[in-house]
Parts: sequence; C-alpha cells; structure tokens
Amino acid sequence: MAPLIYAHRGASGLFPENTMESFYAAVRRRADGIELDVQLSRDNKLVVIHDHTLDRTTTGSGPVRRYTLQELRQVRADRSSSSRYPKAKIPTLREVFQAFSVTPLRFIIELKNFLSDQPNLEELVIEQIRRFQLTERTVISTFNFDSLLRVKELDPAQTTGLLYVGPLSRPWEVASRYSADQLHVPMDQLSADLVKSTKQHGLTVLGWTVNSSREIQTALDLGVDGIITNYPGRARKIWRAR
Ligand code: G3P
Ligand code: CA
Repeated sequence: MAPLIYAHRGASGLFPENTMESFYAAVRRRADGIELDVQLSRDNKLVVIHDHTLDRTTTGSGPVRRYTLQELRQVRADRSSSSRYPKAKIPTLREVFQAFSVTPLRFIIELKNFLSDQPNLEELVIEQIRRFQLTERTVISTFNFDSLLRVKELDPAQTTGLLYVGPLSRPWEVASRYSADQLHVPMDQLSADLVKSTKQHGLTVLGWTVNSSREIQTALDLGVDGIITNYPGRARKIWRAR
C-alpha cells in the first residue's frame, strides 16, 4: 500500500501553519491528510494552533487559554514580515471538519494537552469527530501518553498515535502499553530495525517531520506507512517518480 502523505500543520513550509490557507494548499498538493494541533480557548472551544501562546504564529500575545474564541478570531494567524495572508485566522476544529469532511481527506489531530489546563480535551475532540462521522479517517495523536489511554477509554474504535521525541527504548512496546495503534517517530530516530519491529508488533509507523528530499527518500526506502511533512507537494512528486 502506498504510504500516506500528511501535511504537517497543513502545507506549512509554504503557508502560515495551522490555517485554512495552509490546509487548502495541502489538498491542492494532493496530500492524503493533514496534521493539526488542537487546544482549548477560554470558553472551551476547540481551536487549531500549535503553541500554548499566541506570540510566535499570530499578531496576538499571551496564552491561548486566556482568550475566548471570539477574541482569538480577531488576531491574524500570519506573522511573516510580508503578511501575505491578511485574512489568515486561527481555525476551529469544527471549521476544518466542515470544510473537508465532504472530501476523502484524512486527519491527524494532535492534542496539545501537556499543561493541566485542557480538561476534557479528549471528550470534546471525540465528540466533534463523531459529529462529522470521521472516526475512520482520523488519528488522535499526543505526546501525553496517559491521554492516549483516555481516548481509548472514551472510544475504543478511535485510532491513536503515540508521539515521542529523542531516543526511547523499544518505542513499539511503549505504544502497545498505551494501547496506541500507531507510532509517530521523529525523523532522526527512524531506522530499518525500528520500522521492522514496530510493524511486527502490529503497529502502523509514521515518520515526522520529513521535509528535505533526502529525508523523504530515506523514509520511503525504510517502508514507513506514512510521513508527516511540511512539504506535501515535494513528497507527492518524489513518491510519483519512484
Ligand atoms: O505529528 C508530529 C508533530 O506534529 C509533533 O510535533 O511540535 O510539530 O506538534 P509538533
Ligand atoms: Ca503537531
């Protein structure tokens, strides 16, 4: 089966990350799916943004959790000096699903729940996935391993992916221990042995963030089931040429 190409925060190598602009660009570049980061606003709405503060990616500042959705919608989600995307906003998960649930697009929803200020994030995300009938096309991932167990408790049919950074001993066993279906492996940790062992344990293996042509070739040569990349167009071109 062809490896799946997921656009990391959308086509974020070329467009402002985690924006509708970036997600539409990923679809135009024939990504199979998009990866996006979700957390809660002050009024407990699911908003799509990576950092816990607004400062790096938007014209706002301070913690995301301090603002209501309405307030978050006022900031521009493009801080580049050129500001080429003056209309770029922080999307809601609902808005993303509304736009793409009618297409075959897949989703990796990363829960940004390392801080304790994200109560019920798992419940709210699962509720939204079910509302749009997207369970089969969606993976919930997180670096918070306990949260993976919570997701399975809420919906055993929900596919989950364990995310980690740096060296982790026998990560496929850690993933199994937390009932994850997938292992999302940082590019610098990908190896033939790891891919083989992970698959032997019945898990799906994805590499992140696989950006340069060389990294994309390497990950594909290793036989990963999918890659998460800021450059879905580049990955698609390389896969087609093989
Ligand atoms: O899905 C992999 C990747 O998104 C995890 O790291 O920091 O880009 O959210 P980060
Ligand atoms: Ca992410």
